[in-house]
Amino acid sequence: MSEITLQVNNETHVVDVEPSTPLLYILRNDLDLSGPRFGCGLGQCGACTVLIGGRAVRSCITPTSSVAGQAITTLEGLSQNGQLDPVQQAWIDEQVPQCGFCQNGQILTAKVLLANNPNPTDAEIRQGMDGTLCRCMTYYRIQAAIKRAARTMAAANEEVNA
Ligand code: FES
Ligand code: FES
Repeated sequence: MSEITLQVNNETHVVDVEPSTPLLYILRNDLDLSGPRFGCGLGQCGACTVLIGGRAVRSCITPTSSVAGQAITTLEGLSQNGQLDPVQQAWIDEQVPQCGFCQNGQILTAKVLLANNPNPTDAEIRQGMDGTLCRCMTYYRIQAAIKRAARTMAAANEEVNA
């Protein structure tokens, strides 16, 4: 066991764990963050996604020791000052989830996609979201929500720059 310091959603946590323990287990079991989900446990579905350094990272295959000290954001950390992130709001407005199990990964992957490409085409959305799986087939609503979030973010930017 080793003491590892984690920065999660702007809070510091010191956990005493086997260094190779998947980050997902620590987030869910030690830090009570239930946003990231255990789907495949093999890095293949995206349900366990978290944000680290602007990337969507699959926490089920990420050794906890490898992200010590790095800023980690889970779905719980996406809203700011009680205000939902535009991507979260778009998900609500488009009523995206069905069972909801995959949606943590969908939202966080969409967040990265939009950060890198604020106005993606349908093809770019499909490419950016590829490999983030939904067994309920909510893909069309996900696409609509990403476009809605893109419009909201563009409008907000215009307001700031006006
Ligand atoms: S649970 Fe991590 S990718 Fe499926
Ligand atoms: S909403 Fe059920 S798995 Fe995606």
